[in-house]
Amino acid sequence: MKKATNLHRVLYRSEQTQKFGEGELEKILSSAHKNNTDHNITGILIRRGIFFLQLLEGDIKNVVDIFSKIKRDLRHKNIEVLLNEGTDSRVFHKWTMGVIEDSSLSNLPELQKTIDAIIKQKEKDSNVKVIEILKLFTSSLKK
Ligand SMILES: Cc1cc2nc3c(=O)[nH]c(=O)nc-3n(C[C@H](O)[C@H](O)[C@H](O)COP(=O)(O)O)c2cc1C
Repeated sequence: MKKATNLHRVLYRSEQTQKFGEGELEKILSSAHKNNTDHNITGILIRRGIFFLQLLEGDIKNVVDIFSKIKRDLRHKNIEVLLNEGTDSRVFHKWTMGVIEDSSLSNLPELQKTIDAIIKQKEKDSNVKVIEILKLFTSSLKK
């Protein structure tokens, strides 16, 4: 029998605005670490130039709450939800909010290619593919 779970994931892309000042990422991450720990949310924030791609995972109620807060944040705009679905397991078990920036993406060519396709909205399958690649990425970290 399938285990009942309220585990949920949201993947979205957005673009930073003028309000995204210097040191803004550190501020975001510091509130993310606190709030996400309190609400048992895990995930990753990828920054590619002016674009963000974020995966949030956790109990559905907590994900919906935190995402509604994030959606109101004026430091980014054009928020487009790519995945919004129930799931049996988390991709990121331990990361309250990991971050990948351009500098480290160049070492992860497959992830970079998929992210670029999502940003440019070229490949419809990329949204699903990015989860698979992120899974590979986390398993490579465990080795
Ligand atoms: C791209 C982006 C990603 C964010 N990710 C998170 C997050 O994962 N968790 C979080 O609590 N806040 C995140 N924030 C910040 C929220 O929008 C909001 O500012 C914050 O939750 C307020 O926290 P506070 O009430 O503790 O000050 C993000 C903001 C942006 C622009």
